[in-house]
Amino acid sequence: MKYLALLSTLLPLLAAAAPVANDATDASTLVRRDADTTTVHLDQCSGSPQHYASGMLYGVTGKGGPMQAYLKFAGINYLSSGGAQTATSGWGASVKAYKARFATVVQDANRIHGLGGVQIIKTSDLWGADGTQPGDFPYPGDNGDWTSYDKFIQQLISDIKANGLARDYITQIELWNEPDLGYFWNRSVDQYTQMYLRGTRALRAAFGQGSGAFMPLVGPSTSTRPDPSNDWFKNFLSTLQNNKDAQPDVWNWHMEEGNTNDPVYATSVLKEWLPQYGLTGGIGFQNNEFGTREQQRPGYAAWHAARYEKVQFHALRGNWASGSALRDNLADLLFKDSNGKYHTTGEYQTYKTYAGLTGSPCTTDAGNSVDSYATAGSGTASALVGNSGFTGTANVVFSSISNLGNAAYVKATIKRIPYNNGGEVTMNVQVSTKKIKVVNNQVTVPVNQDNADDAYLVTITPA
Ligand SMILES: *[C@@H]1O[C@H](CO)[C@@H](O)[C@H](O)[C@H]1NC(C)=O
Repeated sequence: MKYLALLSTLLPLLAAAAPVANDATDASTLVRRDADTTTVHLDQCSGSPQHYASGMLYGVTGKGGPMQAYLKFAGINYLSSGGAQTATSGWGASVKAYKARFATVVQDANRIHGLGGVQIIKTSDLWGADGTQPGDFPYPGDNGDWTSYDKFIQQLISDIKANGLARDYITQIELWNEPDLGYFWNRSVDQYTQMYLRGTRALRAAFGQGSGAFMPLVGPSTSTRPDPSNDWFKNFLSTLQNNKDAQPDVWNWHMEEGNTNDPVYATSVLKEWLPQYGLTGGIGFQNNEFGTREQQRPGYAAWHAARYEKVQFHALRGNWASGSALRDNLADLLFKDSNGKYHTTGEYQTYKTYAGLTGSPCTTDAGNSVDSYATAGSGTASALVGNSGFTGTANVVFSSISNLGNAAYVKATIKRIPYNNGGEVTMNVQVSTKKIKVVNNQVTVPVNQDNADDAYLVTITPA
């Protein structure tokens, strides 16, 4: 209720405020605004949208929490889960506890496979190492005994097969979540390495490439990014140098550190490292958790989308909920009121807008903080504009306009995707429509950003 009340008072205010801000002409109140630029190259648009940043860590329960339509319109295409924080523990506690967690994975996989998406099975959550386990919880290979772990992996293999999850490429298996953190791996690196090699080899023997049920193995899923200071990661690469058969199929790390969590930088580091260790990079990269809670707002979400479209690999939004809320609300893209009814946030609208952009993705250039994801087709082009902490004028440049047809002018429409302080947002807000003259085969659409939290959608058509 609180959110609904807030929205009804806010929306008219926001709508009324926009033209005032745009028309400020009193010289005494004019302050020099910061400016930043993102450029859309309309001569470099090809292929079809992949929506690389539309994955999600947990966020659903069973069939109706929340309904499949919410996932569909938000374009959710990857889901990662293993029953973490459900009432039961996992294999480390009992086979029964593991079975209960596995049943949640089957539910989740059916939901995402039903949308044509990919399920990532979080093996460590099935083991019970989800960060809530007690201090004396057993780990694979304790006291040099691998019997239990080997049984666990064989049970997992047979359960995957028995439940119809052994599906070529669209089910993936993560060996262990954030093994560089004591919350998830409270044993030596050496014991981790032995577990990793054992598990990888057993799973690969069951679901190898070309088997008809290739289930890409995802790792090492560190909490930290590839960076020259990351000794854990470099040690992992050294281990694989002598165990090349155990390279991950999908190289994964998380982007939830105290910085912008820019995949472009971390990707360049890993790409430089791999050949130095004689490693190949498998079938690609993944960030199956990205974004701090602070970064979960439209402006940052659109920026992360633009960044993942640049590196072109799949990424999943982090999930900062806990307990039963972990498996609900699409990782906080939605929230529930006291009657249990779901409401959409501004970030949900950002995902929906991103998913709804048809046409071919175009190359875009980032500014210092502003970046965009853009598509073009059928005489129109759109840019979803985000930032990593920018207030001021974001100039959205569309170059090579002739690719949309010969036009002396374009009609440019700006819509705002409000953060609204995390409250309900049901639609994008119209900001302005104006005619802009094409000069040197390009147009610049200035977007006045009063805050960094909102995202913008800029659409142009020849006029
Ligand atoms: C790690 O294990 C020690 C005992 O071996 C235990 O006291 C401690 O609580 C554990 N830490 C975590 C984060 O589980």
